Amino acid sequence: MKRVQFTETVLRDANQSLMATRLPRDDFEKILPVMDGAGYYSVECWGGATFDSCLRYLNEDPWERLRRIREAMPRTRLQMLLRGQNLLGYKHYHDDVVEKFVELSLKNGIDVIRIFDALNDFRNIRTALDATKKYANTRTVASGCIAYTQSPVHTVDKYVDMCRELKRMGFDTICLKDMAGTMSPAEAEGLIKGIKDAVGDIPLILHTHCTTGMAYMTLLKAVECGVDVIDTATSCFSGGTSQAATETLYYALTQMGYETGLDEAAINKVNDFFKPVKQKYIDSGLISSKSMGTDSRALVYKVPGGMLSNMIANLRDMNAMDKFDEALVEIPNVRRDLGYPPLVTPLSQMVGNQAVVNVLMGQRYKQISNEVKNYFRGEYGIAPAPVDRELQDRIIGADNEPVDCRIEDSRRTGKEFEDARAALGKLARSEEDLMSWICYPDQTVKFLTARRELEEHHVRYSIVEE
Ligand code: CO
Repeated sequence: MKRVQFTETVLRDANQSLMATRLPRDDFEKILPVMDGAGYYSVECWGGATFDSCLRYLNEDPWERLRRIREAMPRTRLQMLLRGQNLLGYKHYHDDVVEKFVELSLKNGIDVIRIFDALNDFRNIRTALDATKKYANTRTVASGCIAYTQSPVHTVDKYVDMCRELKRMGFDTICLKDMAGTMSPAEAEGLIKGIKDAVGDIPLILHTHCTTGMAYMTLLKAVECGVDVIDTATSCFSGGTSQAATETLYYALTQMGYETGLDEAAINKVNDFFKPVKQKYIDSGLISSKSMGTDSRALVYKVPGGMLSNMIANLRDMNAMDKFDEALVEIPNVRRDLGYPPLVTPLSQMVGNQAVVNVLMGQRYKQISNEVKNYFRGEYGIAPAPVDRELQDRIIGADNEPVDCRIEDSRRTGKEFEDARAALGKLARSEEDLMSWICYPDQTVKFLTARRELEEHHVRYSIVEE
């Protein structure tokens, strides 16, 4: 029997892609028991931007949110996205922080941790992997994730090598993550066949987005080539910058003889439930028509749609739209100088801004941003290909070697927990509270203060009542 399984993304990536991760718990809690019986491989519901958004915009405790989902969905694998040593942000944390974060994620209900590094520098995902293994229970899955990008150095052989490395490191599954939705069916075929030939015994997952319109074709081709799991979103939360639709792929693949494990009635019920939720956010303007449409520019210009919008906004601000074509031509040059990093946050912004600056100044690298300087110093990790040596010498001095971004033994632990305790005092009641502060200090203080005030109010109120 041909078989493919589904990861449902409505609670994380679909919500993040279409409505900036602003889906409060009240808007999905009632459907969780139905989702629990739908037969998904997993439900992606945490990590990524959900943590920050809970504290910053939704006034929710992200840990509490996870526990409530866990309680309502005892049967389903719950999945999160983790940016390796950066956890859910963009800075490197000490190993002890990464370890504790993973421990608490598993303790509060996560089963599948999908771990990636923006540069595919796998040293940056080692600590998170080791912690996952250390605190694993029988349901835990450590998924090694590769950020997919196109460049002269990103050949099928290179991706196959990355998969071999992830397997050797001890990951249970491998995920190809096409953030920009630019993977074509032909590319998927070459990649999946190559990877399946080399490391066929490890389950392979494809994550892509509908942004450029490629996703359905690419997913179908990937399934035909033997991919084991695909990421999809319930249909009313699919398309545009989100994932392809769960039900649509279910019908197409079932007719082709694939066993999906999905319950047709349940997945349709999930969609019926979310339809009015989506409508509410269209009406409020949180979901824009722009995020729901198809934009093929990423295929034309070979840069992700979001990066292009950024660049156009920058040029408009500076009244320099006449330099647009020149800046576009400059992007691949800057990328080459930086050793072809995947164009994902924060690298997409860094490359885009530098290209614009190079063109506006009329001289390349006359002005270099601090981020790009730090990149050349090696603070983001190792680039996929050698960086421009002359430029690097100019930035860090010809006699200096780039720093090694890997947290060295001497930096294995820091004083984050101490700082968190000092900063929060009695506001902190759990290790989870401390961890929230370490990740997002300002938002956490605000959230925990509000929590305390609310409780004091309740206490006063109930005394008066009695
Ligand atoms: Co995604």
